[in-house]
Amino acid sequence: MVVISSALRLTAFSSIVALCLWPASASAQSAGMGGTSGNGGAAGPGGAAGGGGVPSSSGGTGSGGADGQSGGTAAAGMSSSAGAAAGGAPAVSSNLVTNGTFDGASYEPWWGYATTTTENPADQTLAVTNGQLCATMTAAGKNVWDVGIGLSPVALKPNQYYHISFSVSADANHTIKFKTGFGADPYTDYFIKTVAVTPTAQTVDYTYLNLRDDAMAQFQFQIGKTPGTVCVDNIVIEPVPAPATPSYTTTAPSGHPFKDYKMVKMGTAVDTPIFLSNPLHNAIVAAEFSMVTPANSMKMNLIHPGVDTYDFTDTDALAAWAQTNGLEFRGHPLVWHTQAPNWLTSGTFDRDQMIAIMYDHIDKLMGHYKGRFPYWDVVNEAIDQVNGTWTYRSTFWHDRIGDDFMDLAFTHARAADPAAKLLYNDYNIEQKGNPKADKVFEVVKDLKTRGIPIDAIGFQGHYYVEPNGNTSSGVPNMQAIRDNMARYAEIGVDVQITECDFRIGKPNDASKTEIQNKFYADLLQACIDAKNCSHFTVWGLSDLDSWVPSTFPEYDYAHLFDSQLKPKADYLAMSQVFAQYNTDGTPLNPATGGMAGGSSASAGSGPGPGSSGSGSSSGGCSFASRASDSAPWLLTAFAMLGVLRSRRRSKHARC
Ligand code: XIL
Repeated sequence: MVVISSALRLTAFSSIVALCLWPASASAQSAGMGGTSGNGGAAGPGGAAGGGGVPSSSGGTGSGGADGQSGGTAAAGMSSSAGAAAGGAPAVSSNLVTNGTFDGASYEPWWGYATTTTENPADQTLAVTNGQLCATMTAAGKNVWDVGIGLSPVALKPNQYYHISFSVSADANHTIKFKTGFGADPYTDYFIKTVAVTPTAQTVDYTYLNLRDDAMAQFQFQIGKTPGTVCVDNIVIEPVPAPATPSYTTTAPSGHPFKDYKMVKMGTAVDTPIFLSNPLHNAIVAAEFSMVTPANSMKMNLIHPGVDTYDFTDTDALAAWAQTNGLEFRGHPLVWHTQAPNWLTSGTFDRDQMIAIMYDHIDKLMGHYKGRFPYWDVVNEAIDQVNGTWTYRSTFWHDRIGDDFMDLAFTHARAADPAAKLLYNDYNIEQKGNPKADKVFEVVKDLKTRGIPIDAIGFQGHYYVEPNGNTSSGVPNMQAIRDNMARYAEIGVDVQITECDFRIGKPNDASKTEIQNKFYADLLQACIDAKNCSHFTVWGLSDLDSWVPSTFPEYDYAHLFDSQLKPKADYLAMSQVFAQYNTDGTPLNPATGGMAGGSSASAGSGPGPGSSGSGSSSGGCSFASRASDSAPWLLTAFAMLGVLRSRRRSKHARC
């Protein structure tokens, strides 16, 4: 423990400081913080025991977070306060770690396992300086996970909340991301909110729920690649009671949260650590949304980490929460080339073996959740441009099985859970006329024609405005999206918006926000208006737990709630679209068919061919005309106003 001197003179340094709580028995193991992604560093905490001195390079701490290979989400309930004692959840008596002060001659448990990276060992130094543990980068950072420090012989208990706090300071103002992950493989890591660190020590603290019986506990933070020094001190990790659930009341102008509206089910992606750890996040999701999709926990590297090993821990916890709170669950994804385990990607399996692996994966996942998950993304992102032609993406699934891998996957998925709706899911396929969208439509139509069981197409819906304000490639043509929805209706395939977000190129400004607001409103309106679109999932609740900054570093601010979990203007824009309707989908103002005011781009751009006719049933989701559910006086009014147009039918999804 020490009062930070503002004259930390270590000037050129690292990107990341990682503190690892790690049992001594684990030091010989090779689990890195990147877990199974294969992209993180592979080594565990090597490092020399004993205090003082910079340990020799060994055992870096890899992590998948920034490479898109593992869950990068913000952590929950974190706060920081300059010079203050740890706040947040009340501590209970038995602190797990109380000796993270770096004051004595020996700095166990932290210093004993301090380590620098195996990849760029010359780039940084570690030292106990003035009673703090300091990391300094001596060259510009190359790898955000360059430094790992410390361990503790602490085993963490499952289903236990932990309060973590530490103080941090820097030689100059730095923006730092804190990241925590507990557990051996499979390892779900997550980022904590970015924090501005200054030469004045501040306490950072947060609370989260640990799900596993963890022999290895890890804790790290990254300081970014900017040269400089960051010092930590006073590290405490302690079990605490579950935090209370705060109340949340929607700010939607209608007074109705999204989930009250029956014509389009709203969902959000959630990542297990923040989702289960942040009570306000949970309260908002429960109040506003009808569906959840796990952002990462069902990715094959996490849920199927060994050829014969499945780990349902995170997804089970999410599913239980969803069930308790009345939300539907989307299974995502079954067959995908990304976030796959090393045993699969580095294997030399032939066609028959790959089919057997795929079938086993489908059986285990769909069997485990049979009857509980109504929607599954069976195949994800399988179309790509290869040598200038849009065709099957070259992946280990496609290349080792062949063009029929989708036929086999969908047919097997139908057998695994006949009640589930099966989707093909992809990005940049929303607009008719886009070459990839047209290719995907051709593939889906072909599947449908040949009787392969596919119920819906998932439009991921990831769009953006560029940092310089350019919208030419990132803002879709809404009419082309409407036309695409319509042609899927013609072939009896439903459309679900599955991963919508709209990222803003930094810096944000009012005009970019306006473009974002309009995008969300217009896409929602297009879905409401289409007879075969009744699901709209956003990819993450808030800018706090966003996947965007780590995947697209030039972008941020993509979501409906801000990093304080306050609703943003884009939330309001979507709410205003819903506010034009009664919750059963009938328009409040029949003269405008529910389209007045909220969404300029949608006016006059109803769905294309195939939208007429009364209630229809396609892909297992049946829709009834709202007219049949309306009061007689309202029907008369509609008739007089001539608004019983097919394009104004609202939908009551029955799937
Ligand atoms: C993303 C997650 O949100 C990130 O946390 C992870 O690092 C990478 O994957 N298309 C998909 C989703 O189908 O599974 C991806 O999710 C986003 C793009």
